[in-house]
Amino acid sequence: MGAVDAHEFVVERGEGCYVWDEAGRRYLDATASLWYANVGYGRTEIARAAAAQLERLHAYHVFGDFATRPALDLTDRLASLAPVPGSKVFLTSGGSDSVDTAAKLARRYFHEIGQPQRTVIVTRTWAYHGMHAYGTALAGIGANRDALGELIPDIAVVEWDSADALAAEIDRIGADRVAAFFCEPIVGAGGVRFAPEGYLPRVREIVRDAGALFVSDEVITGFGRAGDWFASHRFDLDPDVLTFAKGVTSGYLPLGGVLAAPHVAEPFWQPGAGVWWRHGYTYSGHTSACAAALANLDIIERESLDTRAREMEGPLADALAPLLGHDLVTEIRTGAGLLAAVQLDPAVVDADPGLPGRVAMACRDQGGVITRALAGGGLQISPALIISTEQLEELAEGLRVGLDSVR
Ligand SMILES: Cc1ncc(COP(=O)(O)O)c(C=O)c1O
Repeated sequence: MGAVDAHEFVVERGEGCYVWDEAGRRYLDATASLWYANVGYGRTEIARAAAAQLERLHAYHVFGDFATRPALDLTDRLASLAPVPGSKVFLTSGGSDSVDTAAKLARRYFHEIGQPQRTVIVTRTWAYHGMHAYGTALAGIGANRDALGELIPDIAVVEWDSADALAAEIDRIGADRVAAFFCEPIVGAGGVRFAPEGYLPRVREIVRDAGALFVSDEVITGFGRAGDWFASHRFDLDPDVLTFAKGVTSGYLPLGGVLAAPHVAEPFWQPGAGVWWRHGYTYSGHTSACAAALANLDIIERESLDTRAREMEGPLADALAPLLGHDLVTEIRTGAGLLAAVQLDPAVVDADPGLPGRVAMACRDQGGVITRALAGGGLQISPALIISTEQLEELAEGLRVGLDSVR
């Protein structure tokens, strides 16, 4: 806090893939803010939809039998997009809420089907699942979990890229004690890491064989980011539970949620079963946020931004490839969709942990491109899904200028 006190970088407006600071300088935003501005900045159509809803009924809760038309329309729409047909939708205020909801749902589900001993949740190194107590306990980034004491019991961490490690850990714990495996199909905040070939189908099978729930955390990878509506579609994950946020509204208003496959929802939907899971947030299904989400989904659909993100994978990799020649860069990670990381030399970062932050700042101040230092010293690349090939080249050039200026 001390380092930024009175040195704030004040962002004033946005349009397309760009934002402007208070002095009127334009920046190409390589991050789409915190991974969320999928449709880009300045979409008046979303602003108008939200404003109209704010005037009519800004918000009403959706507890009990209360509902609003935007919340019903959005949940229908999300159910139709869900990778598992017939999924139920639970709306939240954001990604961390969604992770907390999914973790509680997994434990509560097993309680309801007569397996209350299934409480263990397995997570991965480099994982980021938000900042609430469950998400923090599930962090694979050590610094996010440090110095807080034990937050949630029965959490296990396995190597992010080893299916054998997951199988061995489930054996060690006992398959009948495992409730869920939390998995970002593409690791995001932990450095944009694409799982090795064959990893995702294998872990999916291991979790199914263990009788546990596969939770696909798609807070970043949803709504076109990974080149399909969800990364679960792209990688055939058939998730029992899926968490989302960010791209559902492109950040125009905060909203998140959880998709639960029919068999997971079933115990909570049986008429007369007497199961009452007391869970919900004040802003679950916030009316104006739902209106913004519907307008945002219209844009993604109309402009086919999911397939567009896939088409831009090649141009993204091509634009970033020359940076590998830079002596501070050891790896360029690209793969699915408009997601990438430019990895700074881990040995140099170990010796100088402040370097990635300085590089990101130099990219912004010297190169006119906003990026961010991720865990492990990678630079975040997750632009708006509307970015053009020329703008990707502009993005890479801004990164090069930033890297050169700290060399
Ligand atoms: C995979 C993943 N899960 C959960 C979260 C938490 O979302 P929020 O910051 O909206 O609470 C994030 C945020 O970046 C995320 O990347």
